[in-house]
Amino acid sequence: MLSVVVLISGSGSNLKALLEAADNPLNGIRILAVGADNPASGLEHAELFNVPTFVVAPQNFDSREAWSKVLLENVKFYNPDLVVLAGFMRILPASFVSALSPNLINTHPSLLPAFPGAHAVRDALAAGATVTGVTVHVVDQGVDTGPRIAQVSVAVLEGDSEFELHERIKTVERQLLISVVRDIAAGNLNLANLDPLNQNHLAQPAAKNFH
Ligand code: GAR
Repeated sequence: MLSVVVLISGSGSNLKALLEAADNPLNGIRILAVGADNPASGLEHAELFNVPTFVVAPQNFDSREAWSKVLLENVKFYNPDLVVLAGFMRILPASFVSALSPNLINTHPSLLPAFPGAHAVRDALAAGATVTGVTVHVVDQGVDTGPRIAQVSVAVLEGDSEFELHERIKTVERQLLISVVRDIAAGNLNLANLDPLNQNHLAQPAAKNFH
């Protein structure tokens, strides 16, 4: 059984998908707790599944380091095998990342390395991209730069708004994230063995087609 702590900032549709996946014992996933950097609406999903939650808000601390230290203490309290950033919209300092690496993964709504950062969908539209997508990757010290585990592309349609495109990406994203976490749980994917220098060799889920 793979034990997981999920961190969110927003509505938590990816979290909800993970909670539903964990409800099926065949997936071998157990969500121990859900944390957030604000009283995010997505925490309600955890409460519905009777999963404990915690909020560690940066405003209550003097520095990012002090905030992330307490966030890390909360995560470590549960001693998870894996930490999933599922719409967690803050950059974590190196000390947090190295304490959990490589068992810290993030889902991001673009085909990285294209469009890193907090506005990936908006940036893809502004750049006139015809294809974007989603990437699940191991978190490293950079912003959305860590070794990529799996990617799926999503077409940008004529007249797409940021909301419409993001919703289409999220439909694919939820399946990809579950697929990756399930593969880690099954021992089919070893996060310590991803080659950061050779990003063309994506793990199995990248080959899956969710369109
Ligand atoms: C997801 O699309 C996730 O990839 C994105 O926030 C959304 C959260 O949706 N994360 C980032 O942009 C991180 N840079 P959700 O709250 O409905 O799961």
